[in-house]
Amino acid sequence: MIIRKSPAELEKMRRAGLLVYNILQELARTVEEGVSTHDLEIAAERMIRDAGARPAFKGYYVPAAGSRYPFVLCTSLNDEVVHGMPSRKRVLRKGDIVSIDTGVQIDGYYGDSAVTVPVGEPNEQVKKLLEVTEASLELAIDKVRSGNRLFDVCGAVERHVLAHGFSIVREYVGHGIGTALHEEPQVPNYVDRKNENPRLKEGMVLAIEPMVNAGKADTRVLADKWTAVTRDGSFSAHFEHCVAVTANGPWVLTRP
Ligand code: MF3
Ligand code: CO
Repeated sequence: MIIRKSPAELEKMRRAGLLVYNILQELARTVEEGVSTHDLEIAAERMIRDAGARPAFKGYYVPAAGSRYPFVLCTSLNDEVVHGMPSRKRVLRKGDIVSIDTGVQIDGYYGDSAVTVPVGEPNEQVKKLLEVTEASLELAIDKVRSGNRLFDVCGAVERHVLAHGFSIVREYVGHGIGTALHEEPQVPNYVDRKNENPRLKEGMVLAIEPMVNAGKADTRVLADKWTAVTRDGSFSAHFEHCVAVTANGPWVLTRP
């Protein structure tokens, strides 16, 4: 069942969404050579607590990992796809890309968003990977309209990514969001005909999060049980927004 939110509930999700936006903006400005992913974690945790919010990821149980995630951020470098863990030892270097993913809960409602940021000037291929991934998210956002179907959203990401010669991660998907971080439906970044294709209705909120690899799609999880990496070592990008279906079209809750 896909839970629909009232306008008052969407306003609460908006507050969570804007806090997540502000955190990611601030962290993106902080990203430069010599900064560690632990530095980003500390800054994010302070902003979340200062806002009177609760971090959504820290303590979140993920069955596949078999434990609770220990940080407020996922910081995934280069060939890391998702769930990279902040560390004092991971110091950013020119030529790296870092995907920063975070979520917060305010007044019972969640926000969740991710960006991938280059450290220094990216080379042409990396630049294209970031542009194509972000553009695929924008195309999907534009499909979040009453009367459209879920596959319109999934298909928009898939078509754009494949047309540019990159590959789509299949093991990790977007999701509904509201009073839980993960609600129905799953939002794969490809049309999955084994799943249902519900019609989108006012009040539904989707967290759309394309994870795109420069090389092959296959991933594996490191011995830490969390960090997902590309099998071929190619770079991976990740962008995410929470988007509500409204009478006026898509409402991106995680940006102004
Ligand atoms: N943005 C990811 C998601 O929505 C990361 C959350 S997993 C966690 O699924 F364990 F880090 F919380
Ligand atoms: Co998410």
